[in-house]
Amino acid sequence: MASRSVVVVGGTRGLGRELAQFYADQGRDVVVTGRAAAGAEASAAEIGATARGIGFDLSQPETIADALADVGDVQYLVLAAIDRDSNSMKDYDVAAAIRLATLKLVGYTEVVHALLPRLADDSAILIFGGLARDRPYPGSTTVTTVNGAVTSLVRTLVVELAPRRVNAIHPAIVGDSPQWKGMPPERFEALVQRTPTGRLVTMEEVVDASRFLLENGAINGINLAVDGGWLCM
Ligand SMILES: NC(=O)c1ccc[n+]([C@@H]2O[C@H](COP(=O)([O-])OP(=O)(O)OC[C@H]3O[C@@H](n4cnc5c(N)ncnc54)[C@H](OP(=O)(O)O)[C@@H]3O)[C@@H](O)[C@H]2O)c1
Repeated sequence: MASRSVVVVGGTRGLGRELAQFYADQGRDVVVTGRAAAGAEASAAEIGATARGIGFDLSQPETIADALADVGDVQYLVLAAIDRDSNSMKDYDVAAAIRLATLKLVGYTEVVHALLPRLADDSAILIFGGLARDRPYPGSTTVTTVNGAVTSLVRTLVVELAPRRVNAIHPAIVGDSPQWKGMPPERFEALVQRTPTGRLVTMEEVVDASRFLLENGAINGINLAVDGGWLCM
């Protein structure tokens, strides 16, 4: 069982990649996935010798089981992928909404289904949501609803997969993540002003909180906000 891997779906960049890098640096076997095999393999090569890359599109859930067929036993499964959809009621883009809703809700769930025989009783799953769940903004309709649904997904998977553990992490905007580090300074400053710690959450802090949720054997069914107290304001 010592060689059980850490699988990070959406591990080719951003927060998923940072977590994959952490476990690879510990000498763990790591699998990172993205949409394209070539991109995933290139990311894995950068992460290190114990990493490998696999390509599949979560918004095409029927393809997932085959893509994961040769993944061995898994200790930690991390579901971090996102294809962001800016979608408002005024200009509702049905195709983009279906893509993201399918990706996070059906795609994530199908990954769990496909890997279930390889997840032993002491394995753990971590799902990435986000605080758009609680703090909508214009255009966040799909992101807000899917991240809200992550909360429910955790609860049903805890019941279905027991005794395996399932938790979710809901970061606020992570200031040094690739998605946000180029944001306009005035937006950055407005977010800082609304964060009690006086700064934005960092990728390192998200990795640390992710490890807690994955590794602490008593933690199950938790939807953890990692936000520097943002929700208190
Ligand atoms: N960054 C933040 O501040 C923040 C805040 C709150 C919540 N979150 C959550 O944290 C998670 C990671 O966010 P991030 O900003 O780090 O992500 P990111 O940098 O945008 O990376 C997204 C990842 O998802 C993969 N991906 C995209 N579309 C996919 C698809 N259709 N099928 C399979 N894989 C796909 C990408 O791989 P390829 O490009 O190689 O296909 C990439 O590995 C997300 O669930 C997000 O909702 C992030």
